[in-house]
Amino acid sequence: MQLSHSTKLRLTQIVKAGCVVAVLGFTFAGNAFADDKPSLTLGEQYIQDLKDGKIAAAGDDDHVVKELIIKRRIPITYKYISTLMSTPNAFGPGVACTTCHNSQDASKSYRGLDLSTCKGIIEGSTEKPKRALFVPGKDPKRDILVRRLRNNRMPLGQGFENSTYTPNHMLVKQWIDDGAKNDEHFTKNVLPLFSTANAFGPETPACTACHMSNQEPPSFHELNLTTHAGILLGADSIAKGVDKATKVIIPGNSSLSFVWQHLSEDRMPPGISPSEPRDHPNTTILATWIKQGAKCD
Ligand code: HEC
Ligand code: HEC
Repeated sequence: MQLSHSTKLRLTQIVKAGCVVAVLGFTFAGNAFADDKPSLTLGEQYIQDLKDGKIAAAGDDDHVVKELIIKRRIPITYKYISTLMSTPNAFGPGVACTTCHNSQDASKSYRGLDLSTCKGIIEGSTEKPKRALFVPGKDPKRDILVRRLRNNRMPLGQGFENSTYTPNHMLVKQWIDDGAKNDEHFTKNVLPLFSTANAFGPETPACTACHMSNQEPPSFHELNLTTHAGILLGADSIAKGVDKATKVIIPGNSSLSFVWQHLSEDRMPPGISPSEPRDHPNTTILATWIKQGAKCD
């Protein structure tokens, strides 16, 4: 159909008028909620923040994730998480997670953990001890999934192949579960293990080679494993303050104690070097998806 010139003109006017009304409506709504500042799109806000010097223009992946994704509350989709789980090198060099964790059948998949579906990720390990890897909506920093992506097994560099359940490992675990007391048994049988080479794996340095005082350097995380008081005080007592030091022992609960977690768990994917950065941008994105509620759609 051919439109006459005047009809076209009127249509244009109506469309323009409609836009003005829409813009006014939008501006009004924006004003009502944002202290008289017009609402900006994500992109406009970003440019504004750059101009105001609130964020740096250049940066690495960490910067992009922090400034453009987390701070701006971009919803993370399950589709991205699904891609991460099935992509090699997604969290640092190594094969994809779903190579080894692809079914809830523990005869085919380690820990009966299926990281290839959203349901599988949320349900967690199905082999004994059956457990979820995080709580949707909660910061997962200390939960199994994230710590398996960040925490290196100790002594640092200790291979996946060495047992985590040697008699020495069991002495430490039992001591924690029995209340982590400063008694004769501890002084005689447990404390010396931390300062003995090869106590927790062949050809490994003593824990105290790296954790010998509250000063970093030379002691990693200001962690002192040479005395009962030092062990109970925990890590980073100078950086964070004595009251806020990271407790590495929870008396009576070995599974929550970082010393036991670091003795019995290693970082994923298996074989990744401890010198690979622990805060991979994709680990941050995975944690953000969990904090946002771990939605499957
Ligand atoms: C080459 C095989 C392999 C790959 C690849 C792999 N894992 Fe694992 N994973 C294992 C084995 C073996 C265990 C059990 C042994 C252990 O607990 O140390 C395990 C245990 C786990 C656990 C502990 C579950 C529990 O209930 O304790 C988590 C979480 C995990 N893997 C996550 C991942 C993630 C995330 C990736 C991808 C970055 C990954 N894994 C890649 C072999 C693998
Ligand atoms: C070669 C040096 C080295 C040795 C040996 C070593 N560690 Fe570590 N430890 C580190 C480093 C580096 C970190 C930082 C975190 C990481 O890389 O996972 C760390 C972190 C830790 C943490 C976590 C502290 C926190 O703030 O969360 C604990 C607990 C720990 N080590 C215990 C031990 C125990 C127990 C041993 C002996 C079985 C040991 N370490 C042996 C270097 C070492």
